[in-house]
Amino acid sequence: MIKFVNVTKAFDKSNPLFENLNLEIKDNDFVFIIGKSGAGKTTLLSLIINKIKLDDGQIIVDNLKVDKKFNKTDRLRQKIGFVFQDFKLLPAKNIYENIAVSLQILKFPRSEFDYEIKKVLKIVDLEGKELYFPNQLSAGEQQRAAIARAVAGNRPILLADEPTGNLDPENSWKIMQIFSKLKAKRTIVIATHNTDIVNSFQQRVIRLDQGKIISDKVGGNYSL
Ligand SMILES: Nc1ncnc2c1ncn2[C@@H]1O[C@H](COP(=O)(O)OP(=O)(O)O)[C@@H](O)[C@H]1O
Ligand SMILES: [Mg+2]
Repeated sequence: MIKFVNVTKAFDKSNPLFENLNLEIKDNDFVFIIGKSGAGKTTLLSLIINKIKLDDGQIIVDNLKVDKKFNKTDRLRQKIGFVFQDFKLLPAKNIYENIAVSLQILKFPRSEFDYEIKKVLKIVDLEGKELYFPNQLSAGEQQRAAIARAVAGNRPILLADEPTGNLDPENSWKIMQIFSKLKAKRTIVIATHNTDIVNSFQQRVIRLDQGKIISDKVGGNYSL
């Protein structure tokens, strides 16, 4: 569960972005966050992982209470995988090592790394690419490797910020099929501009405008 309780965040004190924001995302929900550039999508996701600190209120992430004094970021990273628009794979490490870093954060047993890495690479259709370096993969493949890294070790929550933003339509759909495959067992929150994808998925859609939730419903037919 991810629950925002009266969350306030102001980059500019005289003009808060979020003011007493309340929002509940239940386990195994699949949620899109949409809204124009500057609406607050990235900030909302960054608050959940404590990359940006909130000013007031709290975000409950399962048994953790993220408030302005929260400092157990490692424990959050053990629950949450994050997928970025620009992949953010470590360029000097191969795909196996990139995923291994994510398993180390979990203190996952080293003797099970091979099995787990093979398993997540299969989910994203990158079997056998363990020894490739990021720059030897296409953009779509790099994003799939990043998704494998984010879900490695059975993290129950997956957040993605514009995951198809750097990809062509064909690769974007492939990425979305993978999210679809992953949704049975985890909570997924995707911030996106891609209304074609949002409309085809018919899932819960939260629309932000200047830090306010202006609609929250299941379905399609969105434009920005
Ligand atoms: N680190 C920051 N410092 C100051 N202002 C920021 C920072 N991050 C975001 N903002 C502001 O917060 C608002 C929301 O930004 P953001 O969450 O990136 O929106 P989105 O992802 O929907 O495009 C924007 O007005 C942006 O300028
Ligand atoms: Mg953004």
